Formats: sequence, C-alpha cells, structure tokens
Amino acid sequence: MKIDISKANAFVEADFMKTFEPQVKAAQEALEAGTCEGNDFLGWLHLPSSITPELLAELNATAQVLRDNCEAVVVAGIGGSYLGARMVIDALSNSFGWLQPSNAPRILFAGNNIGEDYLTELMGYLKGVKFGVINISKSGTTTETAITFRLLKKMCEDQRGKDEAKKVIVAITDAKKGAARTTADKEGYKSFIIPDNVGGRFSVLTPVGLLPIAVAGFDIEALVKGAQDMEKECDSSVACEKNPAAVYAAIRNALYQSGKKIEIMANYQPKLHNLGEWWKQLYGESEGKDGKGIFPASVDLTTDLHSMGQWIQDGERTIFETVISVENPNTTLEVPADEENLDGLNFLAGKRIDEVNKMAELGTQLAHVDGGVPNLKVSIEKLDEYNIGQLIYFFEKGCGISGLVLGVNPFNQPGVEAYKKNMFALLNKPGYEAESAAIQKRLK
Ligand code: PA5
Repeated sequence: MKIDISKANAFVEADFMKTFEPQVKAAQEALEAGTCEGNDFLGWLHLPSSITPELLAELNATAQVLRDNCEAVVVAGIGGSYLGARMVIDALSNSFGWLQPSNAPRILFAGNNIGEDYLTELMGYLKGVKFGVINISKSGTTTETAITFRLLKKMCEDQRGKDEAKKVIVAITDAKKGAARTTADKEGYKSFIIPDNVGGRFSVLTPVGLLPIAVAGFDIEALVKGAQDMEKECDSSVACEKNPAAVYAAIRNALYQSGKKIEIMANYQPKLHNLGEWWKQLYGESEGKDGKGIFPASVDLTTDLHSMGQWIQDGERTIFETVISVENPNTTLEVPADEENLDGLNFLAGKRIDEVNKMAELGTQLAHVDGGVPNLKVSIEKLDEYNIGQLIYFFEKGCGISGLVLGVNPFNQPGVEAYKKNMFALLNKPGYEAESAAIQKRLK
C-alpha cells in the first residue's frame, strides 16, 4: 500500500509536514504510552501483532461449522459491529453471486436498521432456508440488533428445533455484561469476546470482523498478515515522512486548516463501496465532536461522476478527495473489435477494460485538481485479503493520530447516545420515566 500526496501539496503550505511533525509525533507517543484521551480504548493499536494462531484456528473451526450447516448466515450487528465485515466480504466476493469462493453460505446483513419491510422480507427469504446467525454487539443491548436477533433466534429455533439452532448461532459480545452475553451463556451458544479496550469501529480485526469473513470463505490469516505488516510500516519509530499513517494524518489536518472541511473517499471499483461506508464510520465517529471534524463522504466512480461529478468539479471549494486506487484487477477483459463500428468504439478495441478505467481515474484526478480539489491517492496492488488488511490498519492508525492532532478524543462517541435517549423515552423503556415526561411535554 502506498500513499501519494503530491496532488495535494499545492493546497497547503510548502513546509506543512514540518509544521505538523511535532503534533503527529506527540500523538504517536501518546498512543504508545497510553496517555491520550480515550486511552482505555487503545487495544486496536497493536492488535494485529497480538492475534494468536490459536484464535485464528478457533475462528476458522467455528466458521466451518456454519459453512457445513448453513445455506445462509445472517450477521446481526450495527455500526462497528458489521461495517468492517461487510466491507471486506464485499471487496473480495464475486459481484454477481455469493457462491464465491465455492460452497460459502450466503452472508446477509441485518440488525443495522429498524425497517419493518426489511426484516419481513429477510424472514421471507429465510423461510425454508437452513440459516445460522452471528449476533454481534459489544454492549449486547443495541436495539436494532437486539430486535433482529429476537426475531431470527425464534425463526431459527422454529425451523431447526432448539438444539440444532444452538449449533448455528454464535455470539460475539462482551466477556461479562449485556443481554447478548446473558443469552449466549444461558443458551450455550459458541461465543467470542470483543476485547474491552477495542471500540466498535476499530474492531474489524477481532472476531467481530474475522468470523463473518472466515464464514464467507476468505483467508483471515492473510488479512491479519497484511495488517501486521502495516502495523510495522506505521510504527511510531518510522520517520514521519515515511510513515503512511503519519503522512495521511498530517495532510488531512493541514487541508482542514486551509478550509477543506469535507473529505470524499472515491473508489473506481464497485466492490469498494462498503470500504467507503466503513471508513466514514471510522473517521466520522472518531473526529466529529466538540464542534470540529472533517465531514467524511464517499463516492463510487466512475458511476457517481454522472451524479456527484458536477458538485465535486464545480461546487463549493471546501472538499478534498482520497482515492483508493487498485493497481491490478484480478481478471482480464478486453474491449472487442467490431467490423461495423456502429458505436464508434473501435479506438478502444483490444484495450483492457481496466486501462479505460485507469484513464478515467487519471483524467478525473487532473480535472479535480484543476478545479481546486486536492487529491490524495492510496494505492493497493490488488483486491485480496493481504492488501485489504493493510488498508484496515493504515486507516485505523491514521485515524488515531489525526483525531489527536485535531484535538478531540478519537475513541469515544458521546453524540451517538442522544437519539437513543429520546427513542427510549418515546418507547417508554423502563428507567426513562423522567425523559419520557420531558419529551411528551416538548411534543405538546
Ligand atoms: O463504533 C462504535 O462503537 C459503534 O458504532 C458501535 O459499534 C455500534 O453502536 C454498535 O454497538 P454494539 O456493538 O454495542 O451493539
């Protein structure tokens, strides 16, 4: 993985790296020493190098049980409890089928919304299908996930019988607290622990991400190896200008200070749509607080050049973009020649589709830079487990440093509680009587 900031340099002071180096170094030292705000959530920092072969073997063995016994596996989780798995599985799967690699059950995601139609249709799809559930919730009490799990647990038990259902329901939750832990222990489900010191959005390299990815048939050892290698490349001992996470954190903050308040993650591979979703949560929830923070947005290109392209090229000049560039496709396809050339496309005949895509990428980069949009390019060689593992750790480390340089606690999310408090009050949840009374008064 490489980061190229040469197309953003013109938008910041020439010696911005020198200006930011002391803050970046201080952030890295605080992370290492555990002296920064949010220091009880630093378990992600050296997570890749601490993953044991025994844990990977246990995850693969559990994945095999689900693979052997299920046509579909529903991953129930929200936010950090599903976006990482979804991102990796989407990036590595065949775009038009879920039987790739062969014999993998279809992975479905639920518990991330409260859509009645969505849940009804999910259950309609699962009728008569041998399905299992991975119930993921660190708190074990998240409403969206809990409602979904209640529905799926009952359905799974009704279809398979309680004893058989137990074999295909796995819980990933806190070691001791929360309803998901109570249920898992009482029912005797296989369970994995989310470490206390790893927050949801940093948890893809724990069982939260690794189990669903293994069930989908992907190589979690290679994913972890990519993250381990990136952990070394981003280590605090590596000089700032050579450390990809430090460079990314510094240039983002320099651009933010120069008025670039929105960062758009752009990809040129449809399979990377959910990388944008995962990254938006990572950076949005980590940095958007205390009235500060770059707003993370994402686009799929070239698709969205035909919808958002105008705005990016010509709208308010408060944006910069970070492009995820995949150097080599995993397949080969050329534009065919056509004798009649009715569509006038013969100038492309014999060219790889990827060459056309790369020229679109380059042409867009030049146009955007000309239009006042600084461009950061993050390149990986190809879409595989190893390269995705590298991206994961790079973005996590970049986020930790960047948030500290911004001057916020990147590891909490107090703002997420506001809607929950109101929702519970409106639904008369026990314990919310005072809030209920206050909100009813407000709504009169
Ligand atoms: O990053 C976070 O902490 C959040 O997005 C959580 O992952 C999300 O709210 C789900 O929480 P839980 O895993 O407790 O159900």
